[in-house]
Amino acid sequence: MTRIFVAGATGKQGGAIVRAIAEHNANSATANPVQIVGLTRDPTSAKAQAVVAKNPNVTLVKGNLSNPTEVEEIFQEDGPFHGVFSIQETFIPDEVEQGKLLGDLAVKYGVNRFVFTSGDMSGLAHSGLPFFETKRQIELHLATLPTTLGWTVIRPPAFYENLFISMMDYPWAKGVYSILDNETKLKMISSSDIGRIAATVLLEPTDKYVKKVFSIAGSSLSKGETFDVLKKNGIKFEKDNEENIPAPLLGVFQFMNAFPWEADAEETKKEFPFVKSLSEWLKTEYAPSA
Ligand SMILES: NC(=O)c1ccc[n+]([C@@H]2O[C@H](COP(=O)([O-])OP(=O)(O)OC[C@H]3O[C@@H](n4cnc5c(N)ncnc54)[C@H](OP(=O)(O)O)[C@@H]3O)[C@@H](O)[C@H]2O)c1
Repeated sequence: MTRIFVAGATGKQGGAIVRAIAEHNANSATANPVQIVGLTRDPTSAKAQAVVAKNPNVTLVKGNLSNPTEVEEIFQEDGPFHGVFSIQETFIPDEVEQGKLLGDLAVKYGVNRFVFTSGDMSGLAHSGLPFFETKRQIELHLATLPTTLGWTVIRPPAFYENLFISMMDYPWAKGVYSILDNETKLKMISSSDIGRIAATVLLEPTDKYVKKVFSIAGSSLSKGETFDVLKKNGIKFEKDNEENIPAPLLGVFQFMNAFPWEADAEETKKEFPFVKSLSEWLKTEYAPSA
């Protein structure tokens, strides 16, 4: 029986892997569907219950990535795992420790496939941005692990979902619209396609993705092109003044002008043909409440 451990199973990317593996199970003739052991700090939460209700091959287990003993018990009691999906929250003090822990446990418990979802670091050896550099430290740790672990790093840029949410109480898209230079390419992907890519890698029988790093994108559009696509779908933004944008967010948008993200949508499609452009995603998956 193939068993996959999914961190963040109640979140955007981990939840998308759960759905992608459910799709795989539905489309495969096997009598032994892939089983998922999903991690959550609270299996009784509404979001956890919703994951279980929609996906028959998922068991959610209680555990906190900040508690190594608790997580190791899951590897002992609910494994063995063929694959592990590793994700951590950003802006937390032990993000690097959490990331290293999952890699170390995967080696200790004989995991074959390991996907770490990192972030697009614009091809820089050092970005100067703490929330990129924590992910880089986790990537570097994976590279030191014994070759028995077939790891793959995926580096998403921004999620399409960001266009419809606020960060630091400020609409992300409005900030992009106001600050990005006209010629800067905005690289984006849907979290559901991140899940499909991770599931593809975790279930790939050959070594084709092992020890590889993929910067992934579904769209690579200037802000003008992005906002044309949104306008066609009835979504408009007004330009804002810099001083209204929270300083850390403003810094990230300015960084994007100086160092555009690396991911290339065409290259991504060659490797993962199912990845959707922004326009395709808006037509098929976007829900106003997303
Ligand atoms: N938004 C973007 O544009 C973007 C782009 C690139 C990379 N990223 C990166 O994506 C990551 C966030 O991913 P996401 O948006 O998919 O996550 P999310 O939707 O915010 O969900 C977070 C998940 O992590 C779990 N979690 C949080 N702390 C945990 C802990 N201590 N122990 C166990 N589980 C824990 C939560 O589970 P429970 O609450 O159920 O415990 C939840 O499932 C961040 O590292 C961010 O930097 C984001």
